[in-house]
Amino acid sequence: MITVSSAKEMKNIIQDLKKQDKTIGFVPTMGYLHEGHLSLVDQSVRQCDITVMSIFVNPLQFGPGEDFERYPRDPKRDTLLAEKAGVDMLFYPDVKELYPTEPSVKVKAVDRTEVLCGASRPGHFDGVVTVLSILFNIVDPDKSFFGQKDAQQVAVVEGLTKSLHFPTEIIPVETVREEDGLAKSSRNVYLNEVERKEAPAIYQALNASSDIYKRNGRNAAIEHFRQALITVSGEIDYIEILTYPELKVPSESDTRLIIAAAVKFERARLIDNIIFTTEEES
Ligand code: PAF
Repeated sequence: MITVSSAKEMKNIIQDLKKQDKTIGFVPTMGYLHEGHLSLVDQSVRQCDITVMSIFVNPLQFGPGEDFERYPRDPKRDTLLAEKAGVDMLFYPDVKELYPTEPSVKVKAVDRTEVLCGASRPGHFDGVVTVLSILFNIVDPDKSFFGQKDAQQVAVVEGLTKSLHFPTEIIPVETVREEDGLAKSSRNVYLNEVERKEAPAIYQALNASSDIYKRNGRNAAIEHFRQALITVSGEIDYIEILTYPELKVPSESDTRLIIAAAVKFERARLIDNIIFTTEEES
């Protein structure tokens, strides 16, 4: 595995690889790697000739008072894990490399962002689509791999590649979970012992609520989720059921839905979701 921090060097290497007809798979991350990231690498290695991972904690996607400064970072461990997982090139730019000056252009995500994390974290997805536009231009990937835990991000990024004609295919990859169901996340390290025991209740309640939705509708499903988390110390930021990937309020004819929640613990805000269908299985 080679590690590159210069955008220019990265572009030159990618150009050479493209001349040799190599396909490029891209796994953009903010580091502090866990099995969720490694499952994205695994898919990229299976589907593409070369796998590029980026590690960049993107200041533009953190709001004031959010955890940009204390976001967990461990470059040494990340480098070892990336290499072991099969990454061929690790792109590790610093802030000045991606944003050499105050950006004169930023990308704004205007669809699928008024709800869920977009509503709770104003400007977050503008930061995500801006950095991804820069990264897509540097890495020029054939396929880009994103975790379905961040289902709204996947929906917004699909909008980005369509709207701005980025020639990369977005591949969503299933959420990786701990044995007790908690979705793997870099932010799980912020949970204290009690919160860690409570956190799997989010996924359990999402599962139960998606079933209740099919039988008894939205209000019953949302109410179940709220009741199921009543003894949990974290505070529900949102719990919502929408169409997926459009993220609109569902009508009776909509069958592909997402139930998504965010719960704020003392030092960690956790998100999770389930995408489900209301059609009867045959
Ligand atoms: O999902 C993430 O880790 C980030 O939002 C991403 C896609 C790497 C952009 O900074």
